[in-house]
Amino acid sequence: MCNCALAESYRTCLHRTCLHRTWKTLACNESMKPDYDLFGKTAFITGGSGGLGNAISNILAARGAHVTIFARRPGPLEDAKNEIVRNCVDVDRQEINAVAVNMADASAVSEAFRSQPRIADFLYCCAGGNHAENGFFIDLKAAQLDSCMTNNYYSTAYAAKAILDIWVENDKKPTGIDMPNNTTTGPKTRKIVFANSAAAFLGLPGSVAYTPAKSAVRALADTLRFEVLRHNSSSTTYTIHIAFPADFISPGFVLEQDTKPDLTKRIQGTDVATLAELEKKFPSSENVARGIVARVDKGDFIICEDSLAASLLFTNMIGLSPKRGLGIVDSLLSVVMGCFVVPVLRRRWERMCREDGSNQSR
Ligand SMILES: NC(=O)c1ccc[n+]([C@@H]2O[C@H](COP(=O)([O-])OP(=O)(O)OC[C@H]3O[C@@H](n4cnc5c(N)ncnc54)[C@H](OP(=O)(O)O)[C@@H]3O)[C@@H](O)[C@H]2O)c1
Repeated sequence: MCNCALAESYRTCLHRTCLHRTWKTLACNESMKPDYDLFGKTAFITGGSGGLGNAISNILAARGAHVTIFARRPGPLEDAKNEIVRNCVDVDRQEINAVAVNMADASAVSEAFRSQPRIADFLYCCAGGNHAENGFFIDLKAAQLDSCMTNNYYSTAYAAKAILDIWVENDKKPTGIDMPNNTTTGPKTRKIVFANSAAAFLGLPGSVAYTPAKSAVRALADTLRFEVLRHNSSSTTYTIHIAFPADFISPGFVLEQDTKPDLTKRIQGTDVATLAELEKKFPSSENVARGIVARVDKGDFIICEDSLAASLLFTNMIGLSPKRGLGIVDSLLSVVMGCFVVPVLRRRWERMCREDGSNQSR
């Protein structure tokens, strides 16, 4: 089957799956707190019409939050909004909004955030993807390097900057003056969650535009984690979280199957014929979303909940990020990964690249 036909079959099946999806079941999962603890809280979710952003939006709405989603295309935004409304625990007490905006336009993002009826308590940055920018460096156009950085790094950085500007300004004002719809009183916890990618841990051949953009997001999160400490006070606590999901099923992931080089697919294990086979190998957006939200609730900075591989790879790239738990497991694993696993992985990928090159030149 050619790539396009395969992707078409993926799309048809995925659409069917989406239509029959029972999002309310999210409410029965462990990440759903029984006391609807997010009543009165507001979540902004960029990329809220996509796989992961939509799933996170549904989880938060099922816990009582007001939710605003942001993306560019009005059609998917409207569909996603309707689904989130259906998942609200008490639709009369919750407000769900959808805003069409290019997150890579800094002033439009700031305006979109400021025009909302409430200040967000949580910002989930999920906008991104690379289905239009897969390929080897030699085959990519400069414009693709640009758009991949724009849609992944700048779309995230501008969102974080816009919300932090609003929060810090708001901290200087008496409660309720500027945003009368915000009903939360008492100390506030404000969270920025970066839905990044395990690609930030790996230079995956054929994903050469995406990895630098996701590495930049990680650098932003690491740095911002320090800087927000400057803004903490007795009334406001700022926290930063970053998730590194590995591959999962989503509309963007389905589209990507059209554009990935075969070598990338062989390395990733996405060289399969049908959506059903992909679904067997990779988790759903909903499962990944549940893991991320649960870890954000626990206060984790580094989140590799869905993938053991990502979790292990992090230990080889800790840098100034805080180690997880007491740090003992991460410290021990970093030695094992650095001495044994990573050298084997690196040599395997080098061999695969050489073989791919000689096959192409035949
Ligand atoms: N799926 C995976 O295997 C995987 C693995 C690791 C990490 N990730 C990352 O996880 C995040 C979500 O992935 P996904 O697979 O759920 O993606 P998806 O299904 O393709 O959804 C992406 C969302 O981002 C929005 N978006 C993209 N660029 C935007 C921009 N410039 N301005 C505003 N909205 C924008 C899209 O809407 P519009 O196109 O309408 O704007 C859509 O709502 C992405 O950052 C992705 O890189 C995905």
